Amino acid sequence: MKTLTVELGSRSYPIHVGQQLLGNAELLTRHIRSRQVMVVTNDTIAPLYLENVRQQLSDFDTASVILPDGEQYKNLDTLNTIFTALLEQRFNRDCTLVALGGGVVGDITGFAAASYQRGVAFLQIPTTLLAQVDSSVGGKTGVNHPLGKNMIGAFHQPGCVVIDTDTLDTLDDRQLSAGLAEVIKYGLIRDAGFFDWLEANMAALRARDKQVLAYAIEHSCSIKAEIVAADERESGQRALLNLGHTFGHAIETGTGYGNWLHGEAVATGMLMAADLSARHGWLSADMVQRTKHLLQQAGLPISPPAEMDEAQFMKLMAIDKKVVDGELRLVLLKAIGDAIVTGDFRAELLGETLGLAS
Ligand code: NAD
Ligand code: GLY
Repeated sequence: MKTLTVELGSRSYPIHVGQQLLGNAELLTRHIRSRQVMVVTNDTIAPLYLENVRQQLSDFDTASVILPDGEQYKNLDTLNTIFTALLEQRFNRDCTLVALGGGVVGDITGFAAASYQRGVAFLQIPTTLLAQVDSSVGGKTGVNHPLGKNMIGAFHQPGCVVIDTDTLDTLDDRQLSAGLAEVIKYGLIRDAGFFDWLEANMAALRARDKQVLAYAIEHSCSIKAEIVAADERESGQRALLNLGHTFGHAIETGTGYGNWLHGEAVATGMLMAADLSARHGWLSADMVQRTKHLLQQAGLPISPPAEMDEAQFMKLMAIDKKVVDGELRLVLLKAIGDAIVTGDFRAELLGETLGLAS
């Protein structure tokens, strides 16, 4: 097992990465300070992993709530079912919530923890590659609104993140690819050497080579932990983690939550960001080509949905959280491994990039 730390002073927490961690009672309980524990999961993950996790928590008063599976359920109604379960079972404010699942379960459980009785503790046990490399780390929690992705939420850090890489054995190939999009993101925004490594190891990652996957997860988490420690509330460099997300969130909202996977939308969005960067002369055509090739090698889509036009993109992108004083800002690339957040892009070039969609 490898342990990394998200350094946030008194709220610092560990990220444990290894095999067979769900069966490690000492590890799972080390960070629980309460008697009452509520495990939140969904109806796909429950039959696979809930019993094992509950067995390790047998020293506590443990209950569980099982949500319907899907991005379309990451909303206020589902959040309310968690609150109802907590209230019906008289959970008090020193309870602990455990998020067992992918990014949807993690985000919604984290937001329940941030707001139940004004804030309770929670742990993350991410079970998708995407959640293991990104969403379980950093304390962004929330739900979607019909008008915009992740528009309702809070920052609330977990007490620890337990990444059992064996859970990836049951994940299907499409979901694995979606997680690889966020892994590629770290290479693009921060680490050209990691991007090279991904080019050399993409086949092994897709073949689920355990050692190669573990390295990709640890390295991704270390980059995310460093960025979150430097800018927890996204007043600066944390926004770089949103490479491709402004385009991607528009695709997710525009096509209906759950139709494009988050990682797929981010992949296409990252290529759109690379394309726009190249149109400004910031990124060479060769770098755009390498990005496109790596995304394709990862099994990810590289073209925006045919049904979305420039006007729909612009409307949806205007609801982005990076909009400041009405000005849209985008994460763009100066090189592989070097990203910037800027409102200083040419509207007609953005139109050309979005024109690719129609
Ligand atoms: P997801 O949570 O919908 O999980 C994908 C699918 O895999 C689901 O059907 C799920 O039930 C299933 N699943 C999960 N673990 C499994 C396993 N081990 N075996 C078999 N099936 C399994 O999607 P995701 O890609 O994990 O997360 C996407 C969400 O994360 C989006 O809502 C996105 O906005 C959010 N996100 C949040 C952050 C953040 O910083 N908070 C960062 C990135 C993404
Ligand atoms: N996934 C973006 C962030 O955590 O900031």
